Amino acid sequence: MSEVKLEYDGQTYSFPIVVGTENEKAIDISKLRASTGLVTLDNGYVNTGSCQSKITFLNGEQGILRYRGYSIEELCEKSSFVEVMYLLINGELPTETQLSTFRTDLRGGDNLSNDVRKFYSLYPKDAHPMGIVSATLSTLSTFHQDLTPGNLSADQKSKVMSLLLGYMKSICAYAYRSNTGKAFVDANPDLNYVEDFLSLMFADDKGQYEVDPEIAQAIDLLLILHADHEQNCSASTVRLVGSSQANLFATISAGVDALWGQLHGGANQAVIEMLEEIQKDGGGYKKFLDKAKDKNDPFRIMGFGHRVYKNFDPRAKIIKKACDSVLSKLGVNDPALEIAKGLEEAALTDDYFVERKLYPNVDFYSGIIYRAIGIPTNMFTVMFALGRLPGWISQWKEMIEDPTSRIGRPRQIYMGETARAYTPIGQR
Ligand code: SDX
Repeated sequence: MSEVKLEYDGQTYSFPIVVGTENEKAIDISKLRASTGLVTLDNGYVNTGSCQSKITFLNGEQGILRYRGYSIEELCEKSSFVEVMYLLINGELPTETQLSTFRTDLRGGDNLSNDVRKFYSLYPKDAHPMGIVSATLSTLSTFHQDLTPGNLSADQKSKVMSLLLGYMKSICAYAYRSNTGKAFVDANPDLNYVEDFLSLMFADDKGQYEVDPEIAQAIDLLLILHADHEQNCSASTVRLVGSSQANLFATISAGVDALWGQLHGGANQAVIEMLEEIQKDGGGYKKFLDKAKDKNDPFRIMGFGHRVYKNFDPRAKIIKKACDSVLSKLGVNDPALEIAKGLEEAALTDDYFVERKLYPNVDFYSGIIYRAIGIPTNMFTVMFALGRLPGWISQWKEMIEDPTSRIGRPRQIYMGETARAYTPIGQR
């Protein structure tokens, strides 16, 4: 079946079916308005594809996630965050030479200039780190004003993507240090990307930091798990903002802002706050499950449910397993983990959640590991942004390199007042 027919207003129209490599099917409606005068309406884009992409494949019914064809399970077991960055952006796993060159290019973003560092002193001491990260990315766009897609050669594009990936370690770590009144430290070229990020976060003011391989490995795993997730809210924001040919740093800043919301990346912070509330309330789940089911109550079980996954989020399964191993290796006993496990069990046997196919998502357990490592709750979504940056960059690159891509500009159906004449104020 290569087309669908639409009967409207006494006429029959045909529209082609697009079939993906995983046999997903879509109706190509690019000629709909020109041929029928109709547009489509789809609240939240639940049924609407915005692009064709080769980066990430999700199967929500079967709980499958693959980056460039490699399963998330295998990448978590055998790869590293820097190698996954390269894979997402370039489409293939790197050779040793390519990886070594990429690592060198990432070092180009090792240190934010003192001019950029000065901006951190202007934020309120209780500023949310996501606001600081977003603002710093926009600030960087004023120091790199030429980074619009039309100005970039292939080599310049590659360099600027690596520069941004390199900068992001410090951008994120300095948000924590400025929040906690710690002096900034420089990147340590003797450390790998994840170790260096941890050092930028936690080093003493002399720049001394002792790498704990368990912690570095846990963060590397979490960053791989967050690296991309096809056309989610923030990736779609990056594509939409980038489609106007905006500066890359400004485009990524918009992605950070979209991720911040608690229905998206901000959920990892909201999960821990919810678990702490349950703990303070005595640890019972029923009251909270009932609140979540009450249509008149805005409360939801944070970290549960997903637009695409109607089965377990494969990332949540991996993180849940990692919780046990990381906390026991670190000798941390966090009651929030037992509460989370109990809440998951209670929800998964509750008809309301079962009928709606609501399962734990990537945000449900991740905060427990971040907390065990000493990362404060308000930095959890910044960790998500650090992980998601290569995904946003790969989606941006794919979009600007697509010769058919156009500025994103959805239509609407107007439901307001029809034409009317202006009335002078005395006659209203
Ligand atoms: C991320 O898209 C991605 O890929 C995102 C992400 C990525 O990697 O980029 O995976 C990361 O954002 C994960 C999601 C993090 N957010 C949360 O954990 C917040 C809590 N979850 C929900 O708010 C909700 O499940 C969403 C936002 C995730 C999805 O919202 P949808 O697809 O619009 O679903 P919906 O709100 O229409 O829910 C369908 C039904 C509704 O009930 P009915 O109206 O059918 O009776 O399920 C209910 C909802 O009320 N429901 C929940 C619920 N999630 C959905 N009820 C209680 N608790 C919840 N968590």
